[in-house]
Amino acid sequence: MASKPFLSIEGLTQRFPDGQGDTLTVFEDASFGIEKGEFVCIIGHSGCGKSTIMNILAGLAEPTSGVIKMDGFEVSGPSLDRGVVFQNYSLLPWLSALKNVTFGVKARHPDWNKKKVEQHAREFLAKVGLDGDVVHRKPSQLSGGMRQRVSIARAFANQSELLLLDEPFGALDALTRGTIQDELLKVWGDSEQTVFMITHDIDEAILLADRILLMTNGPFARVAESVEITIPRPRSRTEIVEHANYYAIRNHLVQFLGHRSKELAGQQVVEADDRSPQTVRIDKSGELPDARSADTSGGAPHLLAVND
Ligand SMILES: Nc1ncnc2c1ncn2[C@@H]1O[C@H](COP(=O)(O)OP(=O)(O)OP(=O)(O)O)[C@@H](O)[C@H]1O
Ligand SMILES: [Mg+2]
Repeated sequence: MASKPFLSIEGLTQRFPDGQGDTLTVFEDASFGIEKGEFVCIIGHSGCGKSTIMNILAGLAEPTSGVIKMDGFEVSGPSLDRGVVFQNYSLLPWLSALKNVTFGVKARHPDWNKKKVEQHAREFLAKVGLDGDVVHRKPSQLSGGMRQRVSIARAFANQSELLLLDEPFGALDALTRGTIQDELLKVWGDSEQTVFMITHDIDEAILLADRILLMTNGPFARVAESVEITIPRPRSRTEIVEHANYYAIRNHLVQFLGHRSKELAGQQVVEADDRSPQTVRIDKSGELPDARSADTSGGAPHLLAVND
């Protein structure tokens, strides 16, 4: 068994009142790990509990049971070590776009003067295509896509150890989305950041991620698989589709979302059940390097034979 991963999710259970006097178990005993510097995407149908997991990772919600450890320390409450892009942007409505970004930068670098803070914030706003007068507008004066970009700039500018992204590109048109995906890869590539990102877009996940976690439908959702993206970096949007593994991986994800996410749904935990995700490695290229030494899901990688 490999040493403890950077981020370790252990036996996480979330139950909510279902509004009719009963209890809804969103997920139960979910366990998985993320290595330092890894880029991990999580995919699952609407309502399976992805945002709930992210809110717990961000320290903004308490799970019913289970713990999250980052670098060996239990996560409790929000921290500047974790940057978050929320599904609904969550900007401070009374502050301009620029001030929404400088707010966090100031907190992170209390020793920086005003000019340096502003310069840093403007640099990251420019990375997401926001410059000029637009940065002085308040969130209500911005379009949905602009608000989302401010939220992304705010998280990037904080250069936190862990970046948590909840469908960060949902409100963007295809062209802007592509540009900002590239920026995200640059920001991540230039740092030691670990990224955990929720997305509904499987092509985006294959382009960006080292691994994709697949969640079954709820209730009693679970992270069933960890699919390695066996396509070398740098990956280009146009060339990636030519790689021998691309469609094999894509088909596997589509199959999961289409069928197995439902078939595996609603299964309660039985004692001694292994709830950690099964590692899936698909290789049709014959170029795959040796198995990674750090297998964060526990257990040996499951080599999946994929037929056309
Ligand atoms: N505070 C809450 N109280 C009660 N139920 C909640 C609460 N927050 C979330 N839920 C329920 O938990 C389930 C998971 O919600 P969550 O927002 O995590 O889903 P999701 O996977 O992010 O979905 P989507 O892809 O639509 O964003 C849903 O059934 C939702 O109704
Ligand atoms: Mg969500």
